[in-house]
Amino acid sequence: MAAKPRVLSGIQPTGGIHIGNYLGAIRNWVAQQDQYDNLFCIVDLHAMTLPYDAQTLRARTLELASVLLAAGIDPARSVLFVQSDVREHTELCWILGTLATVGELRRMTQFKEKSKGNERVGAGILFYPVLQAADILLYDAAYVPVGEDQKQHIELTRDLAIRFNHTFGETFVIPEPDIKPTGARIMSLTNPLKKMSKSDPDPDSRIELRDPPDVIRRKIRRAVTDSETVIRYDEEHKPAISNLLTIYSLFADIPIPELEQRYAGKGYGEFKRDLAEVIIEKLTPLQARLAEYDAHPERVIAILTEGAARARELAAAKMAVVRERCGLGLPRLESLTISPLQTALSSQ
Ligand code: AMP
Ligand code: TRP
Repeated sequence: MAAKPRVLSGIQPTGGIHIGNYLGAIRNWVAQQDQYDNLFCIVDLHAMTLPYDAQTLRARTLELASVLLAAGIDPARSVLFVQSDVREHTELCWILGTLATVGELRRMTQFKEKSKGNERVGAGILFYPVLQAADILLYDAAYVPVGEDQKQHIELTRDLAIRFNHTFGETFVIPEPDIKPTGARIMSLTNPLKKMSKSDPDPDSRIELRDPPDVIRRKIRRAVTDSETVIRYDEEHKPAISNLLTIYSLFADIPIPELEQRYAGKGYGEFKRDLAEVIIEKLTPLQARLAEYDAHPERVIAILTEGAARARELAAAKMAVVRERCGLGLPRLESLTISPLQTALSSQ
């Protein structure tokens, strides 16, 4: 049987996972598990690039693993692991960093956004996409399933892989982003021109996977809409309703045109009431599984420990090749062309 193409994706343990993460990324990871050879990485080293608290980070790493398992990541089919458990990520990051230019890193949208107006910008934020490139290239991933906001980082990953291969010989697979046409950019419930984000100070802007039903109902009820009352998909003129239609369509698995028909002549109130129930219906079983994992952290830790061991095997094999290609470390004795006799003669 031919080997399946490899997929790798990552997610930061920086706080409550929301339906944007779910619809844009996690849901696709889960759905495609049979199709690919999968690695999913909880990127705690990336989470260090903004100020954070050490105890909270560790708690969130475990918390995120539970959410991913509850969402359907199956350890029998996918390797789930924590980035900092595999030292090779930081080693390859350094090597790729020597090929990246400061100019291209400064041009990254995320760097520009996170450094805007800050006097002291951590160098980690500049290096963030290089570490991400290392995550991907280390495992020869062919596809990287992510939301729209990651496109630029995957583009940079490709550039660095091409540059490395050109300089040191064919070593890395050039990965492709896997960004779905629907759901790759879920917008904030309070401002449909901004993407839904963990870092938005207003918790009403997002629905978290752990939100109880009454909180979901309240957030959807309060979600901004547009001035006219028609339920129609039109990103440009009706961004708020278009976003709610996208969320409805993906959770209920009903195409958007069918929803438009179903709600023709009906008001926003009824549409929102149904939408809240559709989300609750999907999240309730996930939350039940989550409660199981919360009650058994030892199961989650065992899965992550096993995942790290598998990831380490793959990473170590790849790094041996990379070190060799880059000329790092000592030469192997049998590769030395100077014989002991020559050495003796030349010193006479
Ligand atoms: P992060 O929370 O930044 O670690 O993102 C984890 C994954 O969720 C990445 O693949 C992101 O592209 C995706 N993602 C984050 N926010 C959204 C959003 N608002 N809509 C769709 N996908 C998103
Ligand atoms: N930068 C990604 C995000 O914020 C997370 C990430 C880190 C990632 N390493 C990765 C995503 C490797 C895909 C592949 O969402």
